[in-house]
Amino acid sequence: MIMSFLENLDWRYAVKSFDIDKKITKEKLQKILYSIEMTPTSFGLEPYRVDVIENSEDLKKIQGFSFNQAQVGNCSHLLVFSARTDIMDRIDAYLQLASGGDKEVLKTLEGYGDVMRGFVQSQSSEEILVWAKNQVHIALGFALAACAELRVDSCAIGGFLPDKIQEFLKLDEKFIPTVLLPIGFRVENPKSKKVRFGLDDL
Ligand SMILES: Cc1cc2nc3c(=O)[nH]c(=O)nc-3n(C[C@H](O)[C@H](O)[C@H](O)COP(=O)(O)O)c2cc1C
Repeated sequence: MIMSFLENLDWRYAVKSFDIDKKITKEKLQKILYSIEMTPTSFGLEPYRVDVIENSEDLKKIQGFSFNQAQVGNCSHLLVFSARTDIMDRIDAYLQLASGGDKEVLKTLEGYGDVMRGFVQSQSSEEILVWAKNQVHIALGFALAACAELRVDSCAIGGFLPDKIQEFLKLDEKFIPTVLLPIGFRVENPKSKKVRFGLDDL
């Protein structure tokens, strides 16, 4: 039976420990990455990159940069979401992509290009980073939902040292690690019910 999106939300929870021996198939990983690719973002600029780590030694190292949280070390795969800060270049790349390299089509997109550039120019670099990180979190949400649909467990991780991970992964300084997503298969069952403030609180 196909479960609905809402039922999937009841199935998922933030897993604290994964079965180190169970690996996600390539097919499922591709589908999770597809959910990130299809995420709607501001201007469609997808201002992020995602690195997939599966080497167990690398995972242990990154666990060390994540306040030793076990789920980072014993997951099947770790998705490292980094916000991009090179947005002017990204706009040029977007316009090239959207126009398919056709000069005439490119001309018709220049107005949109100006709107995007105007937005970037109106923001400080700190504001642009916040904006890019916001887009990362939309992608995170889509990935969390895709994982649940595929019956892949996950746990978003904001508790880590971005500088250490940027250095370890040899990321260019324009990429700012923003959130981690270890994925795999749960070894425990949730002990307590979900803690939620309730609809009246929304
Ligand atoms: C952006 C973000 C960062 C998070 N960081 C951590 C973390 O560092 N460690 C952790 O165990 N859980 C982390 N969580 C998981 C939340 O604690 C969890 O989703 C929340 O308590 C709700 O529980 P549930 O996911 O089981 O429904 C994070 C979740 C999000 C969305």
